[in-house]
Amino acid sequence: MKDKAGFDLLSEDKLKSVIKTELLAKKIYSFWSVGSTNEFAHNRAIQGDPEGTLVIAEQQVRGKGRKMRQWDSPFNKGLWFSLILRPNIASSQAGLIPFLAGVAVAEGIENFTGIKPDVKWPNDLLLNGKKICGILSEAEFHDAKIRFIILGIGINVHHKPHEFPEEFRDRATSLKAETNLRIDRSELLAEILLQLEKNYRTMQQEGFAPIITNWKKRCPQLGKRVTILLDDERLEGIFEDLNDQGCLMLRTSDGELKKIITGDLLF
Ligand code: BTN
Repeated sequence: MKDKAGFDLLSEDKLKSVIKTELLAKKIYSFWSVGSTNEFAHNRAIQGDPEGTLVIAEQQVRGKGRKMRQWDSPFNKGLWFSLILRPNIASSQAGLIPFLAGVAVAEGIENFTGIKPDVKWPNDLLLNGKKICGILSEAEFHDAKIRFIILGIGINVHHKPHEFPEEFRDRATSLKAETNLRIDRSELLAEILLQLEKNYRTMQQEGFAPIITNWKKRCPQLGKRVTILLDDERLEGIFEDLNDQGCLMLRTSDGELKKIITGDLLF
């Protein structure tokens, strides 16, 4: 189905006809407009909705990014969606789910378009050095165990460069802007869900080690000099490794190996 401008619309019927996963998106909530798909999914998870439930919207009016930032989610321009996950993993591993998602989304985009996105620590995907995807994974714990995880993914698909807010224009891009392909978002989503499910199964059987290995293969900054912004400090050094907890191991100029748990890697 297309709207007047010829854009693909995310109808529930179309989604159900193209999605081929067995675990993910068995239950779908699809909206024209919602506050935040993560917020909606969080409420549904508390109500007991099953693992794999998909919440997707054409537009979010309160889209959330990492560190309480706003995530721009205009109508019809992207894939803004969340999944309810109930993984049987240690609570200390909850922070690895975004790495799994990053690898899976990159594989999905690559299979669908033929272009190969890079990952950027901790949770972004880049094309030609600009951000096309952000991931916000929010875990809920009970008695130190994971109750559920809301995995939120935002992918810029149809935006023209001038349609990004001015402050992000030099750092954000879309699949359309980079490839000039006509992309059907439902079909792209179906491929991404297949890759997410494949990686989720791998994680259930083999743990996160293969995911971390694949993440590192897609990270051009590994082994290079980087600058990291922490809350109140700026660090420089060599991005020496990603450890098995998803921390960035930074070799500073005095030879020290620092473990960075959270922060922003400068472009
Ligand atoms: C980031 O890069 O800061 C993460 C952005 C995550 C955005 C997605 S869009 C779908 C889901 N719902 C939200 O409110 N946020 C995530």
